[in-house]
Amino acid sequence: MSLRHLVDFNELTAEEWEGIYSLAADIKKNPANYSEACKGKILATLFYEPSTRTMLSFQTAMLRLGGNVIGFDNPENSSVSKGENLKDTITIISCYADIIAMRNPKEGAALAASLFSSRPIINAGDGGHFHPTQTLIDMFTIRQKKDTLSGLTIGLCGDLKNGRTVHSLLRALNTLGKNTYYLISTESLALQSHIIDALRENGNTVYEVTSLEECMDKLDVLYMTRIQKERFESEEQYKAQSGLYILDKEKMDMAKSDMIVLHPLPRVDEITEEVDYDPRAMYFKQVQNGLYVRMALIMKMLEAREGEKESLDIEKYMDLPREQHCKSNVCVTKTENYLPLLTYKTPDGKTACMYCDHIID
Ligand code: CP
Repeated sequence: MSLRHLVDFNELTAEEWEGIYSLAADIKKNPANYSEACKGKILATLFYEPSTRTMLSFQTAMLRLGGNVIGFDNPENSSVSKGENLKDTITIISCYADIIAMRNPKEGAALAASLFSSRPIINAGDGGHFHPTQTLIDMFTIRQKKDTLSGLTIGLCGDLKNGRTVHSLLRALNTLGKNTYYLISTESLALQSHIIDALRENGNTVYEVTSLEECMDKLDVLYMTRIQKERFESEEQYKAQSGLYILDKEKMDMAKSDMIVLHPLPRVDEITEEVDYDPRAMYFKQVQNGLYVRMALIMKMLEAREGEKESLDIEKYMDLPREQHCKSNVCVTKTENYLPLLTYKTPDGKTACMYCDHIID
């Protein structure tokens, strides 16, 4: 595995994904065999945003591999509160830890951190942008239950606009299979059109619907999501969108007997507690799988580092302009204004920001 950082799932080759899948499946069967796999190694968990599953499962994963953990779960308790920028924080933590898992509210923060880190950076969520390790878990769970990631009918319901797990999952599935998708949301929380276009261009069938009832009986997989309160500008805007999609026993009765329900969690009100006892509810099994998948990922990323010379990615970008360039208010370049200009061309010839994927012109 040549991987240095994991910013986006699509940095993994199909072979690397297979390697993580197989290793995670073996860890699940024989966890005791791996209890010293990372002895002497240190994981830093830098969480600038709240988390229960991602942070604690990364920490548990490293402890179960025989390693140790350091980090913060609130930037107010670190020198970030004194004004230390991301570049300096990452440079410092690179001196202490062997591998870093970071969650940050700014889109593109993980890519920015990777430029300055001599240690592997794992994106544990960058704003509403990506959450690649949740995607590894989602795909591991689908494959364990359905034996495939292709030819499925998959419904995604809720906040498809702001849900980083939805964005990461669809990008990943788009590279590994062809499926039929039902996107179930209000118009305000619809999935970005460039993601829908990419799915259609790759031969997937995509339907946009506004109710669960329209597709419940067709689905092999239902991926429920929370309305992402923290991404709304006001309480009123959030309230107008919340409580509209609720999966309950009545709706489960419309579904196939072998449909599975996934949810990255946390849940608010979008799945009623009675559904937890339905054997098709997989969301707590997903959490358990998360531990094995993150153990496998840490092992693979540390393996890739063996014998590798430490060099910073920023050296490749030293001569690029440093001025602020992305108009998105949630892009990391808005606050970390020393970052170099990094762009790419979309298939229709537009210029997009490499940090957050917003179109620049
Ligand atoms: N799924 C997930 O990212 O959960 P946390 O926000 O609790 O980490």
